[in-house]
Amino acid sequence: MRSPVPDYLEEVVDALREDRRGEVADYVPELAAADPERLGIALTTTQGRTYVAGDADVEFTIQSISKPFAYAAALMDRGTRTVLDAVGVEPSGEAFNELSLEQDTRRPKNPMINAGAITVHALLVGEDASSAERVERSRSFFSRLAGRELRIDEEVCASELGAAHRNLALAHMLHSYGILDGDVPAVVEGYTRQCSILVTVRDLSVMAATLATGGIQPVTGERVLDAGVARRVMAVMAAAGMYDGAGDWLVRVGIPAKSGVAGGMVGVLPDLVGIGTFSPRLDPQGNSHRGGRLFERLSEDMGMHLFAADGSRLDAARATTVDGTTTVTLEGVVQLTAATEMLDLLETSDPTTDVLLDLEKVHTVTDLGRRMLLEGLRRVRLDGRGAVLRDPRGVLPAPDLGDGSFPDLVE
Ligand code: DON
Repeated sequence: MRSPVPDYLEEVVDALREDRRGEVADYVPELAAADPERLGIALTTTQGRTYVAGDADVEFTIQSISKPFAYAAALMDRGTRTVLDAVGVEPSGEAFNELSLEQDTRRPKNPMINAGAITVHALLVGEDASSAERVERSRSFFSRLAGRELRIDEEVCASELGAAHRNLALAHMLHSYGILDGDVPAVVEGYTRQCSILVTVRDLSVMAATLATGGIQPVTGERVLDAGVARRVMAVMAAAGMYDGAGDWLVRVGIPAKSGVAGGMVGVLPDLVGIGTFSPRLDPQGNSHRGGRLFERLSEDMGMHLFAADGSRLDAARATTVDGTTTVTLEGVVQLTAATEMLDLLETSDPTTDVLLDLEKVHTVTDLGRRMLLEGLRRVRLDGRGAVLRDPRGVLPAPDLGDGSFPDLVE
């Protein structure tokens, strides 16, 4: 059986192909050369399964999406107290390159705006770290999060450094207030190199999924972050990731997210999923236009709004094969996690066996869970296999497979 999730993602991507609103960023000359038609999405579950559609393996510079991950590295390197002394956690309500400093402390308001992100970059590794060490820390740390070696786009970096007047001004101002120590141009260069690391939407989704698990990279199984650091980063993304649009985004879409001027976006839902999108045309706020629309669709279709509570916590799925029948047993609440687990089990099960889906221990099936279970059974049947349902509690009433047929029922 082929999982329906990539088909759904393809459909969502295709529906947006003709939407050409927005403009490619041009304040960095090299970014203006990007192919505006690129469109891709990736979704990685906390179990480490990645689903992609569109331009999933096209590289682009991470830009401001580096900010939450560099913040995570600084928290790991220097501890919460030191980082908090230098950079606050309040939304600024202003554009990404404003000089938003707190009145009393003169700290940048948060690590998502440039003033905060430049300060965070300067905190990496330790007090006496060299510029090269800080850059390598961000590159190697992002690589561990992504599960592959990432590299810097030297052309984009050089192009941005030639036009980095605003960031240099911010950094000099921070230095004058005693927030930033050391060689100001070297810090801005290091921050720009961090922004020039190349990623794909696949990378971004895995990086975000590492936040979603509370710090365990879900593919390699490596603990990369402390759970408290992952929580702090997700919370700051929710509060300030979308700059002056953060409140509206959280209410409307409800997925803590961060955008970059190259057209990437990353989103995360704790214990559920990491999402990466890419489309270079930006809206007037500087966020990827189609990226935002992809997030809206996912939030709506897949019930992904952070505050859309459904009372679900428990999920489990397991499969056993005996006498030509693969029995998949689910427990507790069936939503995204349990349903994708079930689909994975079906996908990898012996295709010569019939399938029995046992819901005896399930007490709730969410709307998404129901659609995924039924679609899984429909596809099993399309593969020429028997599809049998055991539902003594009646948690899946009227199990129409969508084509007018029903699975066979057993006691
Ligand atoms: O600091 C800059 O200008 C860029 N390197 C990154 C800005 C960015 O991606 C803003 N995001 N939406």
